[in-house]
Amino acid sequence: MGATTDDIETAADLLRAGGLVAFPTETVYGLGANAEDPAAVARVFQAKGRPPTHPLIVHLAGAEHLADWAAEVPASARLLAEHFWPGPLTLVLRRGRRVSLAATGGLETVAVRVPDHPIALSLLSSFAGGVAAPSANRFGSVSPTTAGHVRAELGEAVDFVLDGGPCQVGVESTIVDATGDAPSILRPGGVTREDLEAVLGRALAVHSTSRVRVPGQHPSHYAPRARVVLVEPEKVIIEAELAQELGHRVGVLLPPALADAAVKAHAVVAVPASTTAYARGLYGFLRELDQRGCDLIVASLPVEEGLGLAIANRLLRAAGPRLPD
Ligand code: TXA
Ligand code: MG
Repeated sequence: MGATTDDIETAADLLRAGGLVAFPTETVYGLGANAEDPAAVARVFQAKGRPPTHPLIVHLAGAEHLADWAAEVPASARLLAEHFWPGPLTLVLRRGRRVSLAATGGLETVAVRVPDHPIALSLLSSFAGGVAAPSANRFGSVSPTTAGHVRAELGEAVDFVLDGGPCQVGVESTIVDATGDAPSILRPGGVTREDLEAVLGRALAVHSTSRVRVPGQHPSHYAPRARVVLVEPEKVIIEAELAQELGHRVGVLLPPALADAAVKAHAVVAVPASTTAYARGLYGFLRELDQRGCDLIVASLPVEEGLGLAIANRLLRAAGPRLPD
């Protein structure tokens, strides 16, 4: 678990001085900078290798700070904040005056969230401001769910890493466009569509595919080094064995229904039957298959219900066309 009260003070001081601090949240690790300091925010983009037009999420210590960061909070946004914060939900709202345009990628809206992690919340309270933080990985790669992943990927580019152990949710927050009267989902994540709909009392549209271009979203996001191929669950083994015979080093994400099957492949990870456990493990599994030298990963999509929607979204993006290097 690592991080002590002293570490949190050190991290808050570094943020005040324009530094970069990686910190745990319940979803994935974030790479944080003072959201009001354009130079510090610019360093985040540099460390990630992320184009500066891609907006970041501003993390706050509590919903009571919302008025400082958003110009307007519609009733539905307030309702969602009351129900799901602290938690894996990000609300996109009209930008308040405090947010630097560097953090919003020049947009007139801002993404805000209150994370549900004791270390993140202590850091945010101690810093007493907004922390702009994307996931603490290089642009386009798999998000980190342990402090070790952050150090391996960003190394010297981070001034300090707060270690909070493995993240409990494992996929990023659900992003909801709450600027208007009819909220919609821009990215499925840790809060399920069903839970959002139950609170709002109406159906929510999901605009998360590459058909609708959200700034900062590319089909190749969340990708391991190995190429990801998605097939029907019952075809996973045959596809994997065929590719292995053709000379690939095949990694398999074996669907729960096939858990006990023997597969002739380079590396096999049996996917947990519970979507909670699958979401928690997903990025670690992809990293593990990369580390074991796989050049191809064969997987299938889970049913797109509950957390299955976020898992399917990340697998589709991992399998999507790659950006030029
Ligand atoms: O769980 C999470 O959300 C993690 C942790 C660290 O909080 N953060 C995270 O940040 O996933 P990042 O930068 O990897 O993803 C932020 C997403 C991007 O897809 C970006 O396009 C979207 O949020 N976003 C940020 N501001 C936006 C805005 N004003 N309008 C629409 N989308 C926005
Ligand atoms: Mg990210």
